Amino acid sequence: MPEIERPGDDDEARAATELERLAREIARHDRLYHREDAPEISDADYDALRRRNTELEERYPHLIRPDSPSRRVGAAPVDAFGKVEHGQPMLSLDNAMTPQDVEEFVTRIRRFLALAADAPLAIVAEPKIDGLSCSLRYENGFLIRAATRGDGRTGEDITANVRTIRDVPQRLADGDPPQLLEVRGEIYMRHADFLALNERREAAGEAVFANPRNAAAGSARQLDSRITAGRPLRFFAYGWGEARPAVDGGQWGFLADLGRRGFTVNPLSRLCETTDELLTYHTDVARERHALGYDIDGVVFKVDDIRLQQRLGYVGRAPRWAVAYKFAAERAQTRVAAITVQVGRTGALTPVAQLEPVTVGGVVVARATLHNQDYIEEKDIRVGDLVTVQRAGDVIPQIVEVDPKRRESNSAPFVFPDHCPECGSLAVRPEGEAVRRCTGGLICPAQRTERLRHFVSRDAFDIEGLGVRQIPQLIEAGLVTSPADIFRLARDESKLESLRSLDGWAAKKVEKLEAAIEARRRIGLDRFIHALGIRFVGDTNARLLARHYGSLAAWRAAMIGIAAGDVDAKTELADIDGIGPRIVEALAAFFVEEHNLAALDELAAEVVVDDMVVADGEGSPFAGKTVVFTGSLEHMTRAEAKARAEAMGAKVSGSISKKTDFVVVGADAGSKAKKAAEAGVTVLSEAQWLEKIAFEGIGEA
Ligand code: IVH
Repeated sequence: MPEIERPGDDDEARAATELERLAREIARHDRLYHREDAPEISDADYDALRRRNTELEERYPHLIRPDSPSRRVGAAPVDAFGKVEHGQPMLSLDNAMTPQDVEEFVTRIRRFLALAADAPLAIVAEPKIDGLSCSLRYENGFLIRAATRGDGRTGEDITANVRTIRDVPQRLADGDPPQLLEVRGEIYMRHADFLALNERREAAGEAVFANPRNAAAGSARQLDSRITAGRPLRFFAYGWGEARPAVDGGQWGFLADLGRRGFTVNPLSRLCETTDELLTYHTDVARERHALGYDIDGVVFKVDDIRLQQRLGYVGRAPRWAVAYKFAAERAQTRVAAITVQVGRTGALTPVAQLEPVTVGGVVVARATLHNQDYIEEKDIRVGDLVTVQRAGDVIPQIVEVDPKRRESNSAPFVFPDHCPECGSLAVRPEGEAVRRCTGGLICPAQRTERLRHFVSRDAFDIEGLGVRQIPQLIEAGLVTSPADIFRLARDESKLESLRSLDGWAAKKVEKLEAAIEARRRIGLDRFIHALGIRFVGDTNARLLARHYGSLAAWRAAMIGIAAGDVDAKTELADIDGIGPRIVEALAAFFVEEHNLAALDELAAEVVVDDMVVADGEGSPFAGKTVVFTGSLEHMTRAEAKARAEAMGAKVSGSISKKTDFVVVGADAGSKAKKAAEAGVTVLSEAQWLEKIAFEGIGEA
């Protein structure tokens, strides 16, 4: 465990020293974790270092360092990016398409420099990363500005965003920093990260990115850097712009320097001596390309010697000393045999083009993702169409274009289904969302695993011994398909017998599970509602609903009314403070589905749902008030404090606004306490809060 200083009354000088040490140490652990895959400390210890850093920075805001690790979490949004004039223009590269082009590139250089055919000419070969180029300006070792390429002369200031990228050092490593160094390289996203990001976006009903390059560019150009901080961006360094003292030696040595300074340089770079080596490099990298885990679209050759680079100079916007040798486009034409729609674990309907198999870049492609309804409509992709497919960096094959001229006269636009192909439930697409979703959450086989995992999870039915690993096992064995089945299982001797025969289910464990299930046969209305896994109805909204309707019967009747178009019932729901239109729609969509209601009733028959008794807080100082908790409370958890306040008729909010009545400040409350005081809100210390709730006679725990 790394040592964390806990000075009781640390003076500023000590804090400054410690902040310096923390910046260095955290940067080192970031490097070990992200670049070398060799972490030295546990996540918890790492978090402790970061917490300590935040703690000191909150206490001494004026001591926040330019290379502070806290800057990696992003800053408040800006209205637009500032403009940045590049110290040295960011150039583009000429392309070579064939081996002859590469030979000519080398011959031209030799001719230009009047080098004999046998005189040595070292050339560095590097992969050409398919991302977004970026220039990082370091002054006296500190990152002070990051800019996009823009038009080559002027780019956009994306400093706050780039600070969140873990393999961009905030401060140059290896001591003795140059006065000025602009480091250039590529921001990119790895395939696995890209796919996971898209999966998250899809689950949230957001538009997916078409490829990792777009995802990287979109993420790096967010006006709110806190969004960027949550995106898995990476950076490969490969060049320089303005530098004092000037960079000397060669490109190869510079790459090694970048590595020492804390940057990630691409490990596939190679120092070559002959044209043949360059061509072999291109072939080798093309072969390895599919296994790299990120996109490259070719290789780049650069004359190593910087003095020779200077003599060679530029033609137009491109250097004479470098060239990009692209890979052949991985495209092919084929026909769309069918369009099918898959249902994901979260109920998202994703259209997929089934293609007549075709070889693209050495791999047989038989399917291509169509992302969503809009994508199909925009490109007007139809069954039977002749389309060009591309393996976009080998992630998922895509349809780049359709040839409408070669379309059969009887072809018709694709009609996106409005019912789930897996379970037949209604599939709805909320306004403003890209994704259409199945509403048969409780009965849809595609969603079963996730739904049941949620159902038994901590904040829902909280069934001990049933979790992420066990649910798929029980489903596979045919022991459960719906929430009610879990309760039936506990009382069905033949099912319990089958369970005992499964791997890892000894008699003792089955007995424990039985008891755990029985222990949850009685449940509060709020948890019951939350457990149903209705979209947008998390624990907070479930509690609002439970408090408003009070009993399962009342809630159920109101929801059925809404699904049947009862305007009054809908208005009543929409009028609940905190319940927005998206939730209303989601509830209506859930209850429109007969299957869902049946599954709910079956479950209700198995359990006892306690009414939600709301202490209306008559006489309570919190009745009808909005309360915000901030800082850490010593005597109770945040969750408990929230529950207590709500039990007294309060609404608990996460942020201070005009509607806030009370702010309860714990230790280290930071800026919120200040904001509350400024806003004229009643501020309560933890002691005052405890006094008030004791006064209300709400029992201990
Ligand atoms: S060198 C004057 N090296 O390719 C030198 N560029 O087509 C210019 N790129 O804008 C850049 N990987 O965004 C260089 N190893 C690499 C590269 C690379 C990707 C991008 C860069 C540049 C574009 C030029």
